[in-house]
Amino acid sequence: MEKIYLDNGATSFPKPKEVADAVYEYMTCCGANINRGGYQEAYDLEGTVFETREMLTDMFDGPDCKNVVFTKNVTESLNIVLKGFLRPGDHILCSSMEHNAVMRPLVQLEKQGVEFSRIPGTEAGELVLDAVEDMIKPNTKAIVMTHASNICGTVNPLKEVGEICRKHGLKFIVDSAQSAGILPVSMKEMNIDALCFTGHKSLLGPQGIGGFIIAEDMIPLIDPILSGGTGSISHTEEIPDFMPDRFEPGTMNLPGIVGLNAGLNWIRKKGIDAVAAHELALTERFINGLLPLEEAGHIRICGLKECYREKDGVTVPVRTGVVSIQTLKVDCADAAFRLDFEFGIETRVGLHCAPNAHKTLGTFPTGTIRFSFGNFNTGEDVDAAINAVREICGA
Ligand code: ALA
Repeated sequence: MEKIYLDNGATSFPKPKEVADAVYEYMTCCGANINRGGYQEAYDLEGTVFETREMLTDMFDGPDCKNVVFTKNVTESLNIVLKGFLRPGDHILCSSMEHNAVMRPLVQLEKQGVEFSRIPGTEAGELVLDAVEDMIKPNTKAIVMTHASNICGTVNPLKEVGEICRKHGLKFIVDSAQSAGILPVSMKEMNIDALCFTGHKSLLGPQGIGGFIIAEDMIPLIDPILSGGTGSISHTEEIPDFMPDRFEPGTMNLPGIVGLNAGLNWIRKKGIDAVAAHELALTERFINGLLPLEEAGHIRICGLKECYREKDGVTVPVRTGVVSIQTLKVDCADAAFRLDFEFGIETRVGLHCAPNAHKTLGTFPTGTIRFSFGNFNTGEDVDAAINAVREICGA
């Protein structure tokens, strides 16, 4: 049976051939380390790493390519930023749709005297923007927020939240795990101080590479929680205070960066708007195909049904290509098992590491079946998934 991969929210697959080729070429023809080796391959590779920082700065409209820090994933980036920045007695706001990549560091920090409050969300996962300003307290230092839900794809209004941060002197920390490579992000226009990203989802790189981009004035406010060799100022045992070395101790994931470089090039050639248009066309087709099943009481489609809305005279995406459903007459986990086993449809079922987001959507503790579309899915994949859901639900 041919498999249909609809789990791009977890990791994108397949990767463009150029990504696999670049990693293979690095592993077989180069293999050098940077900032250490005194030979041509190491210098050339340093150029590729620099170019990757430049591409990321460009994609996210960041301050400077030295402000791009590579980590192993968005979870590590959020841990570095949140734990390095917040102090006992500080307060931070987050949305009610956060992934555990945000929530678990906040819950750990709470035990050390940091307070957090969740901005309410609607049953479709939309942020209640009007509630934000009233929740700001004298000790509020920042807002941390996912750009798009990993469960239902609902997009948070970053520009509006960034404006509130600017007005109240708060730092704005963004988890772009589900949006980077699909939705446009401008750190400058959205007033983002720390943009955390992962390389293996819509940026199309391999697993194990991620990072964050940080505003200049936030650099000294974050104590590095990791320390070690950087290949620079080796005469001292202090971690350097200059960027990016301040946050990049240890040997970097160079095969990952080389692969990410190829993924970014692929997106650049295709165009981020074309990526979004493709994924949202599939999403629209999927939701429209499922609506009769919802009307007949077999399923519930979580989150927003529409993909676009008019905002200030411009049509903007309000969701990504991540769609969750609840099967109302058959068990969700059984249905997901049958989707794979009988129809070859690969999804993710359960709570998706985001328990409070499921509470917001009204799908806790059962969870949902999540279908997430990527660059290489087709309309036929979508139709096969609709037909499979119909059969499993007995509709
Ligand atoms: N956070 C990823 C997901 O939602 C792994 O599946």
